[in-house]
Amino acid sequence: MELISRMMDGSIPYDAQGRLEPVSSGRGVRQDDKVERLKEVPLFEGCSQRQLRSVAKIARVFDVAADTVLTRAGEAGDEFFLIIDGTARVDVSAEKHVLLHPGEFFGEMSLLDGGPRSATVVANGPVRLLVISRRHFSGLLKDVPGLTQALLMTLSRRVRQAEEQAERLRTPSTGL
Ligand code: CMP
Repeated sequence: MELISRMMDGSIPYDAQGRLEPVSSGRGVRQDDKVERLKEVPLFEGCSQRQLRSVAKIARVFDVAADTVLTRAGEAGDEFFLIIDGTARVDVSAEKHVLLHPGEFFGEMSLLDGGPRSATVVANGPVRLLVISRRHFSGLLKDVPGLTQALLMTLSRRVRQAEEQAERLRTPSTGL
């Protein structure tokens, strides 16, 4: 099971080996502070105060240490991640690595099709993440007006990039 899943369900402490710390895990944190933080996230800019409050209820914020594996290719995955601070590295293949920046998200593919994680994603330094579990994901799609469109646009871009990479691998460079 992915580390974040175990943190979310409480089966490991957040600060195992002092490496992971919850920031505002939902319990003991003022909902208003979370809403203020969500207002700064471009993905939620079309949301009303009421919609932001419902996102704040289901989202948990985690600070994750550098090199933490957030998703592992081939494993089942139950969380959607949005980067608030820092960068995450997607190991698409041995040759191809993509850096994701604040405002970008990952982990949507397994939640949408129920398949295993398509890539390993690693914290490329200390990262602050907004994490939403599978059971809340479909509610989130309903509550956040632009999210479905943002997901579709991102998926289309990723398919295009994957096609281009496959094409490059099929067509060996002539070195010219
Ligand atoms: P998921 O398959 O659930 O877990 C791994 C995540 O990596 C995947 O969802 C996407 O969010 C992300 N991912 C996969 N391929 C790419 C890519 N080519 N570029 C950027 N992110 C990707």
